[in-house]
Amino acid sequence: MSTVTSEHPETTPSDPSDVNRRGMLDKLAALDAEHAKALAGGGEKYVARHHARGKLLARERIELLIDPDSAFLELSPLAGWGSDFTVGASLVTGIGVVEGVECLITANDPTVKGGASNPWTLRKALRSDEIARANRLPVISLVESGGADLPTQKEIFIPGGAMFRNLTRLSAEGIPTIALVFGNSTAGGAYIPGMSDYVVMVDGGAKVFLAGPPLVKMATGEDADDESLGGASMHARKSGLADYFAVDEQDAIRLGRQIVSRLNWTKQGPAAAPSYREPLYDADELLDIVPGDLKIPFDPRDVIARVVDGSVFDEFKPLYGSSLATGWASVHGYPVGILANARGVLFSEESQKAAQFIQLANRSDTPLIFLHNTTGYMVGQEYEQGGIIKHGAQMINAVANSKVPHVSILMGASYGAGHYGMCGRAFDPRFLFAWPSAKSAVMGPQQLAGVLSIVARAASEAKGLPYDEDGDAKMRAYVEGQIEAESLPMFLSGRLYDDGVIDPRDTRTVLGICLSAIHSAPVEGTSSFGVFRL
Ligand code: COA
Repeated sequence: MSTVTSEHPETTPSDPSDVNRRGMLDKLAALDAEHAKALAGGGEKYVARHHARGKLLARERIELLIDPDSAFLELSPLAGWGSDFTVGASLVTGIGVVEGVECLITANDPTVKGGASNPWTLRKALRSDEIARANRLPVISLVESGGADLPTQKEIFIPGGAMFRNLTRLSAEGIPTIALVFGNSTAGGAYIPGMSDYVVMVDGGAKVFLAGPPLVKMATGEDADDESLGGASMHARKSGLADYFAVDEQDAIRLGRQIVSRLNWTKQGPAAAPSYREPLYDADELLDIVPGDLKIPFDPRDVIARVVDGSVFDEFKPLYGSSLATGWASVHGYPVGILANARGVLFSEESQKAAQFIQLANRSDTPLIFLHNTTGYMVGQEYEQGGIIKHGAQMINAVANSKVPHVSILMGASYGAGHYGMCGRAFDPRFLFAWPSAKSAVMGPQQLAGVLSIVARAASEAKGLPYDEDGDAKMRAYVEGQIEAESLPMFLSGRLYDDGVIDPRDTRTVLGICLSAIHSAPVEGTSSFGVFRL
């Protein structure tokens, strides 16, 4: 066993680590301000109105549902960031422990447009379904929603059917689905309880009908009220859609916990080691590691030393392909393989080392963690002639076909095909989180603006026209600004390209929760990969 040594020098104000820390703390403060927007939901007026109606907020419901003092790993809290919709997308999703069972919990936020689902809500809901399915997590939906956000219905009506399809497919796979209905659940929304295995409805709150009184009047001329069309009492006594009648919200939560306690649920993955050591180095020092300028390299072993059990990292092929560190460790008692970019660029050696390492992890059924800080695969004549495409393809083949669970953490740069090879979003990592220092795009802003400039210059030369240098400078500045903004973690998180932006100091805890959730499903590798182009 080899302990990662990671000296932490005393810092003075001029030390790079002090600059790094200040930069990271600034970014964390900016992140907190955005998270606060999600927590504020629809704002004071709607929160006060909701409370005045004797109702609990989405996060209050979740807090009562999960085991006392247990953690809730909220996912995608910044969904919708940068769009016209409220940050958080009127839905709270995350992983929480209920009666000792890790569950995927979703809760509509009725203070935001009555909990109506906009295009970002839909993406967030579908992402949480994916997480539940891949990790075999029981799903608990805390329902109170005005259904489709009507002005944007064209974006959600047709793809939105997947929400109901997914619920019944989860059920078909033996993953329990539980709906606790606190409020409105109308029209298409009625199929959330309709497709769930277990349904609890709150007296005086739940309204579950295909059409409310005005629409019924329009359609058939019948006069009916909310209660007789879709109240909890009616559904518990007459239609049979409610399996449990809750006298109030707290009672619904109690019943939800009772249902989970009777699922007789067991995890199918191997258990974590019963005891393990904490890292030898302080997680607080993770703030010092990433430079504000991502062109300056940092050693990911300094990160690994502060994240893995006992700071023990058994490095594989340490003398070969040294700009990618690969090795074995454990996190909260769960064995993992780690691939971590060490000096930005991926060369042929690193790619082949990664492909071999991923195959080995699949042989030993070991989950993989990818720590990103890459500018992509090496370019240039020497490397093209040396077969960088073939070798990069080997790594991407291994990542794409690997069947052990993957978790990606974007620490710094995650550019170009390097993002793919390191198991970017399109490669279905079970979870993907970014640090506030992360940046991800097809390439860096200066490079992208420079490429556009070269192409434009060549085009004007081909036409025999003089090149507009002033216009070029303006274009480059504009494009650089745009690409920089689009590569920042809040922007990417807003688009659901990650599962959240996390404080680096929380990395070990977040990984622990994810690994524990992952082991709800079997953890099995494969020996079936695509043809490795040798
Ligand atoms: N699409 C877009 N906006 C909606 C919405 C929807 N489906 N449902 C509610 N809203 C908006 C309201 O216009 C209101 O906006 P405002 O405060 O800016 O004026 C805000 O959300 C709050 O709605 P309000 O009706 O005041 O809240 P409520 O808590 O008293 O009632 C509902 C909530 C959901 C019961 C009620 O708004 C409703 O019946 N909405 C329509 C439900 C429906 O038929 N949906 C179609 C299903 S496919």
